[in-house]
Amino acid sequence: MKVFKLSFLGVLQATALANAYIWPSPYDALEDAYTVSGGFGDGGIVDGVNPCSLSPIGGRLPGRQAAAEWLRLAYHDVATFNSTTGLGGLDASIGFETERPENIGSAMNTSLVFFAAFQTKTSSMSDVIALSVILAIKNCGGPSIPFRAGRIDAEAAGPLGVPQPQQNLASHTAAFANMGFNVTEMITLVACGHTLGGVHAVDFPTVVPQSAITSSNPDGVVHFDDTFDSFDNHIATQWINGSSEDVLAVGDNITTNSDARIFGADGNATMRAFAADASLFQAQCSVLLERMLNTVPSSVQLSDVIEPLEVKPYQLSLTLNADGQLALGGNIRIFGTSDEAEAAVAAQMPVSLSWKDLDGTANATHSTTLTAVSQTSTSLWGSVYFFTIDALLEAQSGISSFTVDWAFSASDTLTHSDNGGAGFPLQSVVLFQPQGTCTDIKGNITALALIRNDLGAVSSVSFSYNYNVNQPGSVSVKQVTLQTEMERVGVSSASPIYDTYTTTFGKGPFTDEGFITFDISAVVGGQTFVAPDNQEAGLLTQCGSRR
Ligand code: HEM
Ligand SMILES: *[C@@H]1O[C@H](CO)[C@@H](O)[C@H](O)[C@H]1NC(C)=O
Ligand SMILES: *[C@@H]1O[C@H](CO)[C@@H](O)[C@H](O)[C@H]1NC(C)=O
Ligand SMILES: *[C@@H]1O[C@H](CO)[C@@H](O)[C@H](O)[C@H]1NC(C)=O
Ligand SMILES: *[C@@H]1O[C@H](CO)[C@@H](O)[C@H](O)[C@H]1NC(C)=O
Ligand SMILES: *[C@@H]1O[C@H](CO)[C@@H](O)[C@H](O)[C@H]1NC(C)=O
Ligand SMILES: *[C@@H]1O[C@H](CO)[C@@H](O)[C@H](O)[C@H]1NC(C)=O
Ligand SMILES: *[C@@H]1O[C@H](CO)[C@@H](O)[C@H](O)[C@H]1NC(C)=O
Ligand SMILES: *[C@@H]1O[C@H](CO)[C@@H](O)[C@H](O)[C@H]1NC(C)=O
Repeated sequence: MKVFKLSFLGVLQATALANAYIWPSPYDALEDAYTVSGGFGDGGIVDGVNPCSLSPIGGRLPGRQAAAEWLRLAYHDVATFNSTTGLGGLDASIGFETERPENIGSAMNTSLVFFAAFQTKTSSMSDVIALSVILAIKNCGGPSIPFRAGRIDAEAAGPLGVPQPQQNLASHTAAFANMGFNVTEMITLVACGHTLGGVHAVDFPTVVPQSAITSSNPDGVVHFDDTFDSFDNHIATQWINGSSEDVLAVGDNITTNSDARIFGADGNATMRAFAADASLFQAQCSVLLERMLNTVPSSVQLSDVIEPLEVKPYQLSLTLNADGQLALGGNIRIFGTSDEAEAAVAAQMPVSLSWKDLDGTANATHSTTLTAVSQTSTSLWGSVYFFTIDALLEAQSGISSFTVDWAFSASDTLTHSDNGGAGFPLQSVVLFQPQGTCTDIKGNITALALIRNDLGAVSSVSFSYNYNVNQPGSVSVKQVTLQTEMERVGVSSASPIYDTYTTTFGKGPFTDEGFITFDISAVVGGQTFVAPDNQEAGLLTQCGSRR
């Protein structure tokens, strides 16, 4: 009877939550970067484009605008998609194509180098490019474009064919048709692109007069509209009311006035509609930029739309201390879009975490109250708060999962968050052990793990190190995994129920760019246990230094 009831519930949940995002997910790093845009737990991408006028990190030249450069990069990556063959699209092949005249400018390089820091074993460069555009446009006052992940990076350059301003309208219409967009959609995409940024005299000397280059405008940028740092319809209002300053529309060189030819391709009907209705412009840009970002090779299956999780663990750590107890650390993030969420004061929010033992049993005493992180956090999509976990668990009873009970205000009924039913999984069978883990002067890393020795046979103890390597022919890097076996050293000095395992490895050729994590896994008593997504900082202590 009990078994029947459980499986019946299981079916119900599977149906109701078929599309739910359950933690942990391959897209956790992207979801973090999407959700938190400033303060504690900052995803880091929005910092590159905030404010909207910000010039790119690494090349802080006045007149350059990272938000515009990211949007142009995404378009140039997609522009050569062939809708007949289903090849190309947003696949980061742009990294192999930066020396092509059609991709002129140092912006492509600067952007790709910035993006490398957000690649992980499950966040491709092309997913990061898509996310960068969505965050940049939102931060510039534009629409909320839905985000899907799962893009796969190309390992070689794609075909030539990004439209250039000196080409005629027939050629541009054909290029957009090849990409899968009709004339109305071409006009819309160009208007949505050319509401940010402008044309640079250093790269387009036949379009922009060299007199535009001054000490305060070293690249000689001429903006497309009077609000280059606002994602608004001024590109359309100025075109229709005769005050356009877009050098690709009203420039002295008729040959390169591609925007004029494109905007007028339907007798100005689309641009007139955008000029008359600012919200129509936002809505159409959202629909078409979403389609542009989701133009991917036909073999790629994109994920469901990723939206901020209401409750999510962040950088959890579980280690054995010298007294043989398990120390649970890290954070819980709480997100909401309601007025109450916005008005909440983290220090007054009740938040507690309750865990189940290793064998799955609950125990009323296995609960801890969380403390609000004093530094605040921001999100482009709502309100977000972080809470610190600081709990000691008995090693013997261990942990298999936890739930979070919380409310935005002390007077509210608590919400019980159980990660879609099964709780947030966290295991104490395989642990990363920071004490004794270190990097030697040759750069070799010695890493330690602890594994329960009382739960059956232990095998396949493996250390996986995820890091970035350069790709021949590309500016952008690629994340690879180096896997080494770990060997048993002996029983842990801190607890007789754990054995210590170790491995030493050299990183080999690598690049400093990028995000590094490592996973430790083992089969124990016939079941696989993983301590995932540990941060590289845990490996960087110098060997021999006192800790
Ligand atoms: C026929 C189609 C197009 C042509 C010929 C074209 C041409 C150009 C040119 C010549 C520039 C100046 C680049 C520089 O000086 O750095 C530019 C900038 C830009 N384009 Fe386009 N473009 C087209 C379509 C699009 C589309 C569809 C988008 C996006 C949806 C887009 C987004 C941008 C952005 C954001 C900039 C500003 C870059 C910056 O300020 O650094 N363009 N475009
Ligand atoms: C797209 O692919 C088709 C089929 O292979 C080919 O005929 C066509 O020329 C391609 N388009 C472009 C612009 O290369
Ligand atoms: C971009 O980087 C690539 C590879 O490092 C280099 O070959 C190319 O010249 C760079 N382009 C620009 C415009 O800096
Ligand atoms: C382009 O496609 C859209 C959506 O299907 C349609 O509304 C529009 O009329 C089309 N434009 C042209 C010029 O075919
Ligand atoms: C206009 O642009 C075209 C294409 O870049 C170029 O060949 C031509 O010399 C330019 N004309 C002038 C007057 O600058
Ligand atoms: C044209 O549109 C722009 C942007 O909306 C506005 O600032 C400007 O005043 C308008 N000019 C005329 C002549 O209507
Ligand atoms: C489209 O608008 C431009 C700029 O306002 C104008 O010069 C042109 O004559 C218009 N074309 C048509 C067909 O109305
Ligand atoms: C619950 O945990 C406490 C303290 O860890 C322990 O003493 C007690 O035996 C546990 N109760 C059950 C039913 O396991
Ligand atoms: C340690 O580093 C050296 C030099 O980089 C390398 O040759 C050696 O193979 C590394 N040792 C191990 C165990 O990885």
